[in-house]
Amino acid sequence: MILTRENIDKLNKKYAKSERHYTAITVHAEIVNEIAQKIAMNAAIKVDSNLLEQACRIHDVASSSFMNNSDKDFDYKSYQLHAILGSAILLDEGVDPAIAEMVANHLLISVSKEDVENYELRIPVKDYSPTTIEGRILAFADVFHSKDPKFNSFESLVEKYQKFAPSQVKKLKDAVAEFGLPDLESLSKKYGHPLV
Ligand SMILES: [Fe+2]
Repeated sequence: MILTRENIDKLNKKYAKSERHYTAITVHAEIVNEIAQKIAMNAAIKVDSNLLEQACRIHDVASSSFMNNSDKDFDYKSYQLHAILGSAILLDEGVDPAIAEMVANHLLISVSKEDVENYELRIPVKDYSPTTIEGRILAFADVFHSKDPKFNSFESLVEKYQKFAPSQVKKLKDAVAEFGLPDLESLSKKYGHPLV
């Protein structure tokens, strides 16, 4: 299946458990794509912006099954499964395996085998580091927005990672040094989602 905007929309709708989830996932995907495309324009390496856009718009296709009603009962250890299920869904739907791989590896900034073990993530123990520039940009852009909806500042991400996945702090800082920080204030105003 070619991931046209129409097909992406069909898949996001097909795998969302409710209209509310579908809207949250597609708005989030739109924002992640906007952040990712800005990063791609300034990247030192040539980025396939079309591939990046398709991956951004479909990356949370399986999130609905793992979305809870409030921040309080959010289980980040199980939520990581959404990437693996999403990748399996895309392969099953006949989507480009390169996109399925990007989806499988969009966990936090970059999750190693040791991270899976150390943080007891409920996913098969293996390395999930993104292998392409597009995959790295997708994972990086994704952390700055949550489907609550809200934008996550650099400071709030550092605080969160220090608590549950300290290896991500350095990875976040390295990624910021490489890609820069997205302008979250203007995005927060544009979409009306708070910046926390
Ligand atoms: Fe996401």
